[in-house]
Amino acid sequence: MTTAQEGNLPLHLAGNNAPVTEEVTVEPAEVTGAIPEELNGIYLRNGPNPRTGWSPHFFAGDGMVHAVALAGGRARWYRNRYVRTPLYEHPGESRYALAYDAATGQVDYRVTTANTHLVSHAGRLLALEEGGFPYEITPELETAGPYTFGGALRTPMTAHPKICPRTGELLFFGYRLRPPYLTYYRAAPTGEVLQAQVVPVPRATMMHDFAITEHHAIFMDLPVVFDPAMTGGMPWRWDDGHGARFGVMRRDGGEVRWFEVDPCYVWHTMNASERDGTITVVGCRVPTLWRAGPEDVGGGLPRLHEWRLDTATGKVSERPLDDAPLEYPRVADAEVGRPHRFGYVTSFSLEAEPERSEIYKYDFARGAARDTHRLPAGHLCGEAAFVPRRQGAGDDDGYLLTFCHDRARGTGYLAILDAADLSARPVAEVRLPVRVPTGFHGIWVPKS
Ligand SMILES: [Fe+2]
Repeated sequence: MTTAQEGNLPLHLAGNNAPVTEEVTVEPAEVTGAIPEELNGIYLRNGPNPRTGWSPHFFAGDGMVHAVALAGGRARWYRNRYVRTPLYEHPGESRYALAYDAATGQVDYRVTTANTHLVSHAGRLLALEEGGFPYEITPELETAGPYTFGGALRTPMTAHPKICPRTGELLFFGYRLRPPYLTYYRAAPTGEVLQAQVVPVPRATMMHDFAITEHHAIFMDLPVVFDPAMTGGMPWRWDDGHGARFGVMRRDGGEVRWFEVDPCYVWHTMNASERDGTITVVGCRVPTLWRAGPEDVGGGLPRLHEWRLDTATGKVSERPLDDAPLEYPRVADAEVGRPHRFGYVTSFSLEAEPERSEIYKYDFARGAARDTHRLPAGHLCGEAAFVPRRQGAGDDDGYLLTFCHDRARGTGYLAILDAADLSARPVAEVRLPVRVPTGFHGIWVPKS
């Protein structure tokens, strides 16, 4: 693509945000460094890849999963596949027209892009997007179809469910545009839904993520509210009158206790934990979002932030943890809902020249001290997922895996970084003969 052509494209379709046109399966031949022998599994990453080449918003593209299988110090394969949803099967058709039945007023939640994230639970691999049902895919990325937990899922499902490392339960929620607006679900390690509970909220708000602790689920009722007028092409707008609250509910049900917080939006929490009656939430916060419509980023880029909810007094204290712009916060899977020492994010500084991505590691035992991995100039990456060296480890004894884009070569690679020595050169780079678009979230699925 020439610069002139790129200049006519919206940001979400330009550069490495542009979709790829082929589904491929290749055995990566070019590896720099040494792939650790203990990495035995598949790294999968989801993202939008509009089949028509066009989408009205970054969030609207058809889901495409990119994956690399690692075993015995080798990269066995890379492949990328669309998730076969009704939107994929009917390219260019309106989601609203496909999903909404005007005669019955029903919404078909099978109509989704499944483009945001993945989860592996109870032997199933699911591609997720918050507006619809999950889609089950195989480890080879073939689509099996929509998955509803045996009919127990009656709403869309968030793209950010949490697996409790202690109980093995899958905790999640679904929000929708009509009452009941918010439903909480708890599934057993076997995948059976044990609990589906309506959480009372006054209206539909865009609820992208939530958090869990050992005993609680934390919902974020923030001022990005449903906008049926679709001002700017998205059904959401900022509303100063809505206020902002975190709702704390026991994971096994009961009343929700709401804590007022300073107005903000939070796409992603890094983690939450509880100790002596105080619930601590860490996430990436913007002071406003889409105040003048979905292209308005006047609220700036997200910053790492901490909220402390005192369940004895009902008081909230909050503070910024860093002033660097960043997103895609992650902790080790073994530390989800528990006190974490380390957290990982991708920096979105727009000031680096030449442009490059940075990955930060925060050490919360040292006052959120920051360690940095700088990609080479012209190399960009998205989210980095922590993969423990030993299964179940929760410290920094492991690797960060992320797909990167090498602008000069026009192709992608999987970077494997040493989480304990983040600023060092990558442990390995698995070079791919194709480009991997920027995308959203990914997971590591160890071979069982
Ligand atoms: Fe997300």
